[in-house]
Amino acid sequence: MTITYGKQYIDKLDEKSVISTLRSKKLTQGPQVTKFEKVLNKKFGSRYSCAVINGTAGLHLCGLALGWKKNDIILCSVMSFLAASNAVIYCGATPVFIDINEKDFNIDLIEVEKKIKKYNKYKRRVKALIATDFAGNPCDWKKLSLITKKFNVKLINDNCHAIGAKYYYKKNYASKYADIAVHSYHAVKNITTGEGGAVLTNDKKIHDKVKILRSHGVLKTKIKEKPWNYQMKYLGFNYRITDIQCSLGISQLKKLDKFVKKRNEIAKIYRKNFEGKNFFKTQYVKENNYHAYHLFPLLINFKKIGKKKWKLFDFLAKKNIFLQVHYTPIHLQPFYMKNFGYKKGDFPIAEKFFEDEISLPIYYNLSIKQVNKICYLIKAFLLRR
Ligand SMILES: Cc1ncc(COP(=O)(O)O)c(C=O)c1O
Repeated sequence: MTITYGKQYIDKLDEKSVISTLRSKKLTQGPQVTKFEKVLNKKFGSRYSCAVINGTAGLHLCGLALGWKKNDIILCSVMSFLAASNAVIYCGATPVFIDINEKDFNIDLIEVEKKIKKYNKYKRRVKALIATDFAGNPCDWKKLSLITKKFNVKLINDNCHAIGAKYYYKKNYASKYADIAVHSYHAVKNITTGEGGAVLTNDKKIHDKVKILRSHGVLKTKIKEKPWNYQMKYLGFNYRITDIQCSLGISQLKKLDKFVKKRNEIAKIYRKNFEGKNFFKTQYVKENNYHAYHLFPLLINFKKIGKKKWKLFDFLAKKNIFLQVHYTPIHLQPFYMKNFGYKKGDFPIAEKFFEDEISLPIYYNLSIKQVNKICYLIKAFLLRR
């Protein structure tokens, strides 16, 4: 059996849920979308949520709803998926990257404050900060909230990795501390709708705008004499998700706790095998946090050990085990180097992280036997002379 770094888990109840929607009257813009949004609010303690076609669209809608435009600066972690910074560019604003903290691999809070102050000095406005709960490990949201409030900067949680995580024992943290939280339900994420995402917030104004923008910026108001009436208020997009996808989301959400529990069991085995050992480093998790383990990043000092990363990939691939690396630091992507003048050396912590990181397989259906085999094979490869 092929082992990859992430995989969905679909059971009979998921199939039943999707089939019943396929046989229903509405395939899109129907009751399953509204129901999914309701259960999202219940599960994650948000007041409002708006399900969308994918997480990237959700991030784009955040920027549009908050009115990001030319000359606005939006701070983003350089070690994340490039969807957030791309969404900033879609809005015409400028993404400015921040390096990560070498302990928990999340955005560096000291650097965040320094950058905001630096731009304030030049009268350039930092309008928002997008922080990613990297791999599923919550950032220090209390501190981030204090910093952003102090400088009147909006705070977005790119929560795509952390579905099912807890911060200070609370699962409602994402929309509690950030103005907006964004989910992705791509197939490798902790729950899936195939492609999909959602924008969660406690702010009605933001929610109302996101909802209109999700569907072409069109507002339908009921007027007795004009039952056909609809008006386009903003330039929106078609970022609607279907009822078919939402019915899958509803049944997946029922399994989220057990999915994340299993991810934690797998992570425990990886930690037992690699933590505290020479050449290896794992992600620091605060005592009060519950990691959602979308990813399990393991750092291996390949240089010190005298082995090549690609050879480990090759060795495991021959045994049908396919690792990944999350991520190439965004500033080293050709587009960002060319258009924003970034270069190697700009974000040394993220660059070193990239050199050492491998993402170990982690998903609900991965057996403990397979996890042990992965650990054994990695150690055998690295330690053999
Ligand atoms: C951290 C992060 N943000 C945003 C996204 C974008 O989500 P989607 O693929 O649903 O557009 C992803 C997807 O991989 C992600 O990992």
